[in-house]
Amino acid sequence: MAAGGSASEPRVLVCLGALLAGWVAVGLEAVVIGEVHENVTLHCGNISGLRGQVTWYRNNSEPVFLLSSNSSLRPAEPRFSLVDATSLHIESLSLEDEGNYTCQEILNVTQWFQVWLQVANPPPSAPQCWAQMASGSFMLQLTCRWDGGYPDPDFLWIEEPGGVIVGKSKLGVEMLSESQLSDGKKFKCVTSHIVGPESGASCMVQIRGPSLLSEPMKTCFIGGNVTLTCQVSGAYPPAKILWLRNLTQPEVVIQPSSRHLITQDGQNSTLTIHNCSQDLDEGYYVCRADSPVGVREVEIWLSVKEPLNIGGIVGTIVSLLLLGLAIISGLLLYYSPVFCWKVGNTFRGQNMDDVMVLVDSEEEEEEEDAAVGEQEGAHEREELPKEIPKQDHIHRVTALVNGNIEQMGNGFQDLQDDSSEEQSDIVQEEDRPV
Ligand SMILES: *[C@@H]1O[C@H](CO)[C@@H](O)[C@H](O)[C@H]1NC(C)=O
Ligand SMILES: *[C@@H]1O[C@H](CO)[C@@H](O)[C@H](O)[C@H]1NC(C)=O
Ligand SMILES: *[C@@H]1O[C@H](CO)[C@@H](O)[C@H](O)[C@H]1NC(C)=O
Ligand SMILES: *[C@@H]1O[C@H](CO)[C@@H](O)[C@H](O)[C@H]1NC(C)=O
Ligand SMILES: *[C@@H]1O[C@H](CO)[C@@H](O)[C@H](O)[C@H]1NC(C)=O
Ligand SMILES: *[C@@H]1O[C@H](CO)[C@@H](O)[C@H](O)[C@H]1NC(C)=O
Ligand SMILES: *[C@@H]1O[C@H](CO)[C@@H](O)[C@H](O)[C@H]1NC(C)=O
Ligand SMILES: *[C@@H]1O[C@H](CO)[C@@H](O)[C@H](O)[C@H]1NC(C)=O
Ligand SMILES: *[C@@H]1O[C@H](CO)[C@@H](O)[C@H](O)[C@H]1NC(C)=O
Repeated sequence: MAAGGSASEPRVLVCLGALLAGWVAVGLEAVVIGEVHENVTLHCGNISGLRGQVTWYRNNSEPVFLLSSNSSLRPAEPRFSLVDATSLHIESLSLEDEGNYTCQEILNVTQWFQVWLQVANPPPSAPQCWAQMASGSFMLQLTCRWDGGYPDPDFLWIEEPGGVIVGKSKLGVEMLSESQLSDGKKFKCVTSHIVGPESGASCMVQIRGPSLLSEPMKTCFIGGNVTLTCQVSGAYPPAKILWLRNLTQPEVVIQPSSRHLITQDGQNSTLTIHNCSQDLDEGYYVCRADSPVGVREVEIWLSVKEPLNIGGIVGTIVSLLLLGLAIISGLLLYYSPVFCWKVGNTFRGQNMDDVMVLVDSEEEEEEEDAAVGEQEGAHEREELPKEIPKQDHIHRVTALVNGNIEQMGNGFQDLQDDSSEEQSDIVQEEDRPV
């Protein structure tokens, strides 16, 4: 309107009329899309033939002079130049060049033309795509992003292989129902932008059902704590992990509470049960991985036991030690009675005669024979008649093993008297292995 301002009033009206006519002629606005770092040429209307003097303005809040075909006026910047004395050529576009430009042509009448320059740039990096579970529904959401470009790119999601089109949009988001999904299926996002690249860029996602890993059994002591773990692997998109109790049908999802602590780190989930009680907590627990691609469950059996008591453990160990000692002593006594008798005598200091009788070398040999004989019953039986005298001795040794040293010394005669009865017993014993 700067040019119109110097003209007379009728001239302004003509100018406005021409302006409106011009806009009608070019369809109100011409849109030109340029690319960052590239050159662009804006035409002053769609007019062929003789042209008048052309002046270009940048239409910001108020028009800013850029350049004119009047060579006495210098261009605002060396980047601007005129092509065919009418069109505006801008070198090395930047995003700031985006906006509306106006050209004024003065011939018989003054005409105005407006051009809307859009500066497009393709996104600087590769597109990214992913799959996730749609919140609130059991659907899979595919998302494709290709940020940093202008104007917005287009997204095309297709199934691979086969190329079935899932959807095309400016948003890059598609929702898939469970029926469209299967383990291992691939989806490809192909992006396209107004300024290329021609072939477009793409990315791919492959969906996978979950696998579960857990320990099949756990034990908790009454009043104690126990942690059950569950590890999901291979799931894409990540699965939702739930802990359930199958005490009742249908199974009940365990909610976090003061006794049930549920934590999740990535695709690993743990359920900690505090203050275990047999009635409430023993039984099957189920870890479930939920995904639109698949559902997996694993069972864990929790047994709740009485806590181990330390006193009991110590008592058991001591008893075992004592038992071991008793056995060793028994064996020593059995195989080396001399040693034991000597030990016994140091305390007794009397009845030395008895000792001398018993520590007879012949009897000793016989006793050893008897010991062997007990294990080789067949051999023993053949020599049975010779054996009879030594049974007394065996009996005496038995008495010693029983610890009745005193009684043995005093009751030596008694034992000898009993020997006839005892013999038969021993002979019977020796017959058993046959
Ligand atoms: C932009 O135009 C200038 C001259 O006006 C030319 O030298 C240059 O090569 C052009 N650049 C591109 C990318 O076309
Ligand atoms: C001018 O517009 C007409 C139709 O409106 C079109 O056929 C022609 O190609 C355009 N010319 C230029 C140079 O844009
Ligand atoms: C410049 O643009 C504004 C809107 O942004 C419009 O109202 C005005 O008419 C334009 N001026 C010219 C000379 O095209
Ligand atoms: C060109 O611009 C100069 C300086 O503003 C002016 O004096 C001259 O009249 C203009 N020429 C035309 C043909 O408009
Ligand atoms: C250019 O003008 C059109 C209307 O003619 C408007 O919709 C658009 O927002 C303008 N562009 C800028 C960058 O101001
Ligand atoms: C100027 O206008 C007259 C009448 O409107 C017309 O005859 C003439 O051709 C026009 N000149 C140009 C250069 O268009
Ligand atoms: C069980 O967990 C609770 C709460 O973390 C803790 O106070 C308590 O000491 C734990 N009991 C055992 C036996 O570890
Ligand atoms: C718990 O699940 C197992 C395995 O699915 C099943 O055999 C058992 O009957 C279930 N128990 C209850 C009480 O539902
Ligand atoms: C543990 O549970 C028993 C009943 O099962 C309850 O009497 C006791 O108070 C609980 N202890 C704690 C620390 O919650």
